[in-house]
Amino acid sequence: MNSERREAIDEMIVKMRAGRMSRRAFVERAAVLGLSASFVGTLLDACGSGGSGGPTVVAWESENEATGTYQDLVNKFNQSQKDVQVHWTNGPSDTGQLLTKFSTMLRARSNSIDIMSMDIIWPAQFGASGWTFPIDGKWPASERQNYLPGPVAGCTYNGKIWAAPFRTDAGLIYYRTDLVPTPPNTWDDLTNSAQQALSSGAVKYGYVWQGAQYEGLVCDFVEVVYGYGGSILDPNNPKTVTTTSPQTVQGLTQMVSWVGGISPQAVTTYKEEDARTTFQNGDAAFMRNWPYAYAHGQNASESKIVGKFDVHTMLYGGSNTTGHSSLGGWQLGINAFSSKTDAAWQFVHYMMQEPAQKEAAIKASLTVTLQSIYDDADVLKANPFFAKLKPVFQTAQPRPVTPKYPDVTLAIQQQVHNALLKQAAPADAMSALATQLQGIVS
Ligand code: GLC
Repeated sequence: MNSERREAIDEMIVKMRAGRMSRRAFVERAAVLGLSASFVGTLLDACGSGGSGGPTVVAWESENEATGTYQDLVNKFNQSQKDVQVHWTNGPSDTGQLLTKFSTMLRARSNSIDIMSMDIIWPAQFGASGWTFPIDGKWPASERQNYLPGPVAGCTYNGKIWAAPFRTDAGLIYYRTDLVPTPPNTWDDLTNSAQQALSSGAVKYGYVWQGAQYEGLVCDFVEVVYGYGGSILDPNNPKTVTTTSPQTVQGLTQMVSWVGGISPQAVTTYKEEDARTTFQNGDAAFMRNWPYAYAHGQNASESKIVGKFDVHTMLYGGSNTTGHSSLGGWQLGINAFSSKTDAAWQFVHYMMQEPAQKEAAIKASLTVTLQSIYDDADVLKANPFFAKLKPVFQTAQPRPVTPKYPDVTLAIQQQVHNALLKQAAPADAMSALATQLQGIVS
């Protein structure tokens, strides 16, 4: 820590102890200095202000949110009342890194973070481990029915709701309207169209997506595979592995053909943010990404393609006629070891209400879960593509559903990445994956 920051903190402590600074001002100042929520809690305790009297300070760490919308929502909440003050920390954009951080905290039964933004693939694991506080008792069924049923189901495990489904997510195909005359329907259409755009010299890359060895790759992979009618585990019997089916191998073969062709070799290191910055810099004709990339792409202060792109639903191939987005999304879970459950719920509940849901939809193009948002005129004006999303959510499919998902995803990441690097032929990578998965799920 630099000496200026240390002096600023010392000054805050002196003022706080002397009663010349309110808890709220303290928390706000700490946010400006970029102090972590747990450090602020320790400082407040040291000032003798950790107990009753002042507002309850609740720490929230989210998935990465780079438009400033989460900070704005926190500020509005903090200004709306005096009893609870939320301190927000922006998390990493790699979901795996956030999971490592939270699991380390939870295994130590720590409550340094009261509210955790949770990826849709975590609730079963968190529920089974007793890591979050079930919210059934706090969230009336009469309210719950107003939200998209899929994400609510995704938060439910063993009959209890382990987190509040703040927003859902579904993969989309972004394309440049000035370069692509007719958006593609099939993976072959996309390949040809991207090749044409590339050959015309208008862009550096035809198609960018998420090819790094991490969770995002699994989402991209299942979308191509589902589009060809393939699967990873048999949907009717999740103990049967199906990765050696011709359709699954065909999907992977298609992806491998893109690397070093319509996609740069470096796509094997790309995560969402790499694809997004490349696309909004005007360097690619197509991109696979989540809805959040839309608001960034339409923001003139960061994007070179404002008004020059649109989104299309997920593609298909082989004898299939429907594409399937991979289902993602983020929930707000309350740390089971938190001593501030009621205060945390107050904020979580605020985030689920219409004003917060609407602001997240308009400013950050987040596909929130309150159903009425998809018919809201202001939302549709800001993000016209929300009108196309109902069928996308209806046909979206989850990543393999199994309590062993943490191991399953690592195996998929490893084998698919091997194939993308051409270290294994697609069919061989899929047999190796079958062997690994069989050992995990049976
Ligand atoms: C998005 C999705 C999440 C997924 C992640 C992968 O954040 O919402 O469900 O796991 O991308 O990178």
